[in-house]
Amino acid sequence: MSARKIVTGLDIGTTKICTIIAEVASESNFEIIGIGFSPSKGLKKGVVVDIDKASNSIRESINKAQIMAGLEVDSAYIGIAGSHISSINNHGVVAVSGDKKEIKQNDIDRVMEAAQIISLPAEEEIIHVIPKEFIVDGYKGIKDPLGMSGVRLEVETHIVKGSSTSIQNLVKSVIRAGLEVDDIVLEPLASSKSVLTDDEKELGVILVDIGGGTTDIVVFHEGGIVATYVLPVGGNHVTHDIAIGLRTPISEAEKIKINHGTTKIADPEDEDYYIEVLSASGKDKREISRRLLTNVIEPRTKEMYEMINRQIYSAGPKDLTPAGVVLTGGASLLDGSALLAEDIFDLPVRLGKPEYVYGLSDVIDDPIYKSKDGKIPKAVFSTVIGLIEYGLEYGPNEVSNKKETTKRNEKEITKSFFNKVKKWFKDFF
Ligand SMILES: Nc1ncnc2c1ncn2[C@@H]1O[C@H](COP(=O)(O)OP(=O)(O)OP(=O)(O)O)[C@@H](O)[C@H]1O
Ligand SMILES: [Mg+2]
Repeated sequence: MSARKIVTGLDIGTTKICTIIAEVASESNFEIIGIGFSPSKGLKKGVVVDIDKASNSIRESINKAQIMAGLEVDSAYIGIAGSHISSINNHGVVAVSGDKKEIKQNDIDRVMEAAQIISLPAEEEIIHVIPKEFIVDGYKGIKDPLGMSGVRLEVETHIVKGSSTSIQNLVKSVIRAGLEVDDIVLEPLASSKSVLTDDEKELGVILVDIGGGTTDIVVFHEGGIVATYVLPVGGNHVTHDIAIGLRTPISEAEKIKINHGTTKIADPEDEDYYIEVLSASGKDKREISRRLLTNVIEPRTKEMYEMINRQIYSAGPKDLTPAGVVLTGGASLLDGSALLAEDIFDLPVRLGKPEYVYGLSDVIDDPIYKSKDGKIPKAVFSTVIGLIEYGLEYGPNEVSNKKETTKRNEKEITKSFFNKVKKWFKDFF
């Protein structure tokens, strides 16, 4: 019997950790066989601040997914975010080698290497080198130069980099939880794989993934990535404001936000009503109007979207992204988000979610992550499904039901991961 092909995605978010184990059915198809959620501990604004706590949370989510899948996995594709992430555009140029002056894979590898030469501060590391376009003898806009004739090969790249210590702490937490790291993927790039259409990317589009502690943004133009940003704001700030504004515990504020939160009450007759709220001590209850709740939510949400808008503007004129903005991530589910965003961005806005997770939210039963309708919204799976899609492309792992017990030690694994040459997002054209 041939071994089963498996890809595991591990989304280590600020509010939840989600592991999905997928079995590869064909080149571009997979079946989800295991899902595990755990509340996220030891992370602040997308960054690991306590390795022990983070690895315990990660282990819990992996274990749940493994039990559901009925197998153990060795490694996973993991997402990375946080405000230590930054990006720059760079250029590489080489002379085409060989007598016939026909561009070979070796020339493409060399020009990609040349484009990675940037003055990188000692405490930073490159996460992705994404080719935007190749230029052959001055002709621009070439997506795949392999086999073309020319003497001079150039490439324009988008380089994503991050703090070495933040990357290492993330990798250490995963290894300590018992998994090796297949690769690290910038979270919004993963989300863009599962949520955006090829047409949107070709036209020009902005993906905004609003999570608990971070908002991740990717700008696409003519099929390529032109900018990536990670902002330190998210839905948890709104919850926090509710807790303070209504003098109630954070857990209660979170429930109230999900069940009654909105950015706008359009019809006071219908949409305003009284809500029971637990006091900060957790002992008494009082009633507050939904309008009061909205008065707390609206300014903070507006401020968040204005901050995102300024960042989007800094990427270039908005007519470069006629497909508008696609919102995803848990916090995009707040009632009225898309309307408010459309108003502030002055661009068309749609809510994005991965299509692959159809029926998935019915399978798992985890009260923490349910929405008003009792289901887990698909928008919280954008990153993890994107990680699976990325993994599918870069090689699934073969897994037998009997797991090898001889594990390499933590140091060995960490070292081998950092020695591995990073893969490129070849398909981001
Ligand atoms: N139905 C809902 N309505 C409003 N907000 C919601 C809803 N469901 C989830 N959220 C909010 O979404 C946020 C969590 O989103 P998500 O799961 O995408 O974050 P994360 O991936 O853990 O964090 P990050 O990406 O910032 O590290 C929380 O602030 C939560 O309150
Ligand atoms: Mg997230």
